[in-house]
Amino acid sequence: MSIQVGETLPNVELQVMGKDGPEAVQTQDLFAGKKVVLFAVPGAFTPGCTLTHLPGFVVKADEIKAKGVDSIICTAVNDIFVMDAWGKSQNAEEITMLSDGLGEFATALGLDQDLTPMKLGKRSQRYAMIVNDGKVELLNIDEKGVDKSSAETVLAAL
Ligand code: BEZ
Repeated sequence: MSIQVGETLPNVELQVMGKDGPEAVQTQDLFAGKKVVLFAVPGAFTPGCTLTHLPGFVVKADEIKAKGVDSIICTAVNDIFVMDAWGKSQNAEEITMLSDGLGEFATALGLDQDLTPMKLGKRSQRYAMIVNDGKVELLNIDEKGVDKSSAETVLAAL
């Protein structure tokens, strides 16, 4: 059972890239007192995530923030060096690249998936959320393709 609309995100220690290297962050600190768009991808640099999902949020970032969103966060079960390199390669300066390297956040949300058949191991499902002060207001999960979790769909819901 995954997290539901109306529930509060779990607190997990994850990583972002700081000026001097990887930094630990508590998810409760990233979301407290803020309106946040969070989206998750199965893998940095995979085709659908690189050609469609992340670039959609890069293009729409200003419009999303103009709707009162304080931050846009992208997470994946990838290490922080990969997440940082992926964000830089996509000019995603307006997006916080959040590494869930061990898949702890995806698991705590009930939104992990096993992509072992594709040799990718444990990953996140593809989803987008609108989160207000840590509480989930919208949860859109894509089982296939990038549709319900796209920047366009999230923007329309804001
Ligand atoms: C993608 O293209 O987004 C993708 C490829 C393989 C596994 C998961 C996602």
